Amino acid sequence: MAEQYTAAMIGTGGIAACHMGYYVPNERVDLVAASDINEDSLNAFGEKFGVDQLYGDWQTMLDEVRPDIVSICTWNATHPPMTIAAAEAGARGIICEKPLGEDLGGPMDALAACEKTGCRLVVHEQRRYMTGFATARSQIQAGAIGSPITLCWRNEGGLLNIGTHFLDAAHFVLGDPGWTRVIGWIQRNTDRYERGSYCEEKLHVLVDFEGGHQLRLAMDIVEGEKGQECSAVGPDGLMYFDREQVTVFDADGRREVQPEEQPDYLEDLVSWIEGGPEHRNAAHHTFKTQEIMMAIYESARTRTMIEPPYTKRESPLAEMIEAGELPATGEAYDIRTQAGLDYATKMRAGK
Ligand SMILES: NC(=O)c1ccc[n+]([C@@H]2O[C@H](COP(=O)([O-])OP(=O)(O)OC[C@H]3O[C@@H](n4cnc5c(N)ncnc54)[C@H](O)[C@@H]3O)[C@@H](O)[C@H]2O)c1
Repeated sequence: MAEQYTAAMIGTGGIAACHMGYYVPNERVDLVAASDINEDSLNAFGEKFGVDQLYGDWQTMLDEVRPDIVSICTWNATHPPMTIAAAEAGARGIICEKPLGEDLGGPMDALAACEKTGCRLVVHEQRRYMTGFATARSQIQAGAIGSPITLCWRNEGGLLNIGTHFLDAAHFVLGDPGWTRVIGWIQRNTDRYERGSYCEEKLHVLVDFEGGHQLRLAMDIVEGEKGQECSAVGPDGLMYFDREQVTVFDADGRREVQPEEQPDYLEDLVSWIEGGPEHRNAAHHTFKTQEIMMAIYESARTRTMIEPPYTKRESPLAEMIEAGELPATGEAYDIRTQAGLDYATKMRAGK
């Protein structure tokens, strides 16, 4: 009989419900426990999903339940310490939310801890499992628009929050090439945060990849701009794609590409735990994205182009803000949750 697994959830807010979309239908993984510092959220989650081992303290939950798989669905700064603790508590797989941290040092330590215990760490950059992005990757690999390719994306919501998705998706559709240079520009004139993390107000970026590919990413340039769609331009054509669909324009005209069926997110993790192929969201991919995000901030800080290897542990954005190099007017505000900002402010003050 196939092996059964237990799972536990840390953080029971918005994205935890999305993770439950993986757990509920899966017959081999039983989510048995959950933890949250917000009692109302925790109780509502327990009731909705029939989970009765509920904990206010996540470390106690890990120590007592010893789950095989842990979902980390809390605010950004907590991701590295929770990943390390879950690996040390014997987890065989972790689904950690993006971003993997607010700097590079935390993610470095998280990857090292999982490497040490053999825990399979995936970071929830789920675009790699969406039909549109996966089909775009196959089309590019099949040479539908030639090479090299320039990708353009624009959206709102901050680099660590939404930009991380586009950086990871760019890697994915291009076939995971290494990055070769980064130029970043940012503005932060008001005291802006996202789930407690420092957040720039506006950002414009060029990222070059091996193979001569380039990503142009504009975040928050136009207020409220939301656009999941990416344009990809190559020497032989043009392609538009989003989560669901792909349209190619080439010498033969316009064609909608038949989307390809995608595998199940959690089944792929179980398979990886059991010695199967690496999960598409294996953390080394996201680590590359984290490097690029920090290199973007470093480029803005030093007003220079940054090339790999990039190994600085600290966040250049935090460095600039804390050194008073990005003076901000007005009250602190959070574009996602005030509770996240209150929590992070206490953590930063060491309380
Ligand atoms: N992959 C995606 O598409 C996607 C979408 C939304 C959010 N996210 C990520 O998921 C994470 C959570 O976002 P959200 O929208 O669910 O936030 P949320 O505010 O809805 O939920 C977060 C929960 O974590 C709890 N929490 C915070 N610190 C805790 C701690 N130390 N111990 C236990 N519980 C704790 C909070 O009380 C809250 O209930 C963020 O890092 C965000 O970037 C990813």
